[in-house]
Amino acid sequence: MSRPPYVSFLVRSSRPDGRIGAAEVVDSVLRELGLGRLPAGSRLPPVRVLEQELGLSKNTVQAAYDELVARGALESREREGVFVAGARGESALPPPVPAPAMLALRPAPGLPPSTPRGLLPLSMVFIDPALLPREKLEECTRSVLRSPGVASLYEAQGYLPLRQAVAARLAARGMAVDASHVIITTGSQQAIDLVARATATPRVAVETPVYSHARLLFESLGLGLTGLPLDPFAGLDLEAWEALLTRDRPGFLYAITSYQNPTGYSYSTHELVRLCELSARLGFALVEDDWGSDMLSMGGYRPTLRQIGGEPVLYINSFTKKLLPSLRVGFLVAPPALVPTLVAFKRLSTLGNPWLTEAIVAEFLERGYYDAHLTSLHHELDARYALCLAALREILPSSVRHTTPGGGPTLWLEIPREVDLAQLQRSVISRGVHIELSAGHFQGPAHLHGFRIGYAYLAPDALRRALHRLAEALAEQGVR
Ligand SMILES: Cc1ncc(COP(=O)(O)O)c(C=O)c1O
Repeated sequence: MSRPPYVSFLVRSSRPDGRIGAAEVVDSVLRELGLGRLPAGSRLPPVRVLEQELGLSKNTVQAAYDELVARGALESREREGVFVAGARGESALPPPVPAPAMLALRPAPGLPPSTPRGLLPLSMVFIDPALLPREKLEECTRSVLRSPGVASLYEAQGYLPLRQAVAARLAARGMAVDASHVIITTGSQQAIDLVARATATPRVAVETPVYSHARLLFESLGLGLTGLPLDPFAGLDLEAWEALLTRDRPGFLYAITSYQNPTGYSYSTHELVRLCELSARLGFALVEDDWGSDMLSMGGYRPTLRQIGGEPVLYINSFTKKLLPSLRVGFLVAPPALVPTLVAFKRLSTLGNPWLTEAIVAEFLERGYYDAHLTSLHHELDARYALCLAALREILPSSVRHTTPGGGPTLWLEIPREVDLAQLQRSVISRGVHIELSAGHFQGPAHLHGFRIGYAYLAPDALRRALHRLAEALAEQGVR
């Protein structure tokens, strides 16, 4: 049986020099006993604990306890310790304590429920784990753990060789970025969080529909939201956007400019240029989330706001989807003047992120593994994308429209209005398939009627099976 926890008590000195010796320990125990703070049968701190806490020798503490035993205040039990006398050898039970008050929380953000296990996840944004470079990552992990300098400390902005590698990759894509502009984050999500927490302005504009975890994050931090309706089949209505931005004057626009989540929409160069002009004229900053770049070869790299607008544009991207989701390494590129404040906010939240993981990703990049991995990933994802489009044409009724993003891991299915989406979801779940409904994606009323599907996670035969079941569920509601 384990020993009961000991009861700690305060040892005070009444000597003018404040020093503590055996007599002070004796007096303090007697005082606490007199005040009823040491119930009969409670265990006192072991000698070595008091010895350390008070900076006394073992003999002094032992002498104090011996004295208290001799006076009948304490009793010593072999191999158990020293106890307050008077409980007939029983250890005291802790006195009943009223249950402490519970922490009051704000309402939980309305995140979409995670995909139930055992269902085919049709709305998944991840890449099939079978396509991810586990062995090469294992090699880099071993190598990093062997190098002495890396694992010992961290620097809040992020591991310098990784920042350098990120800057070099972006520079090769036509974005003039220096390592000192790069802040390494825990996935893109922390980059969005940093911007949202550090902004001095109370309002943000977002596309609607938009990546729900960004919208909900902004909302949870008390930012007002201006939804800019995005129709992936029609392009951006920039006149309408301009009117909304002029009316609401947000501090920044969060835009997923390529392969937008959830619609798969990519901004045209003209639209990017117009946004830079509006930003300059109306005074809102641009925060670009380039999540889907690196995923398909056929699109190559699309133009970015950061390329067109230059240094003032904040740019976010991450390695999490393309390497291993559990690595959680992303980054934020910020204008030099903003970097120190953003890093200060990052320090407040995490002090620093795991350098070990950052060093593994840096090594992966440095050895050329990332480029080799992307080449084979592109090959596979291009094939899956083509198969997905062919399967959509073959399996789903022609009244179901879909976007053709040409990159990123997902595309949007627009379902005829007469279909009840909640019922459709229940019906596909009963057939072993999960779709994520999009309420969380919309800021304001939903002008689209559909949901996102991912082509990169399920193997092609599983994707076809899932689409067949979706077609059955649609047929049940009269859409054939
Ligand atoms: C558009 C968008 N941005 C950011 C993220 C967050 O990604 P990360 O895993 O890098 O935190 C996601 C995740 O799905 C996303 O869809």
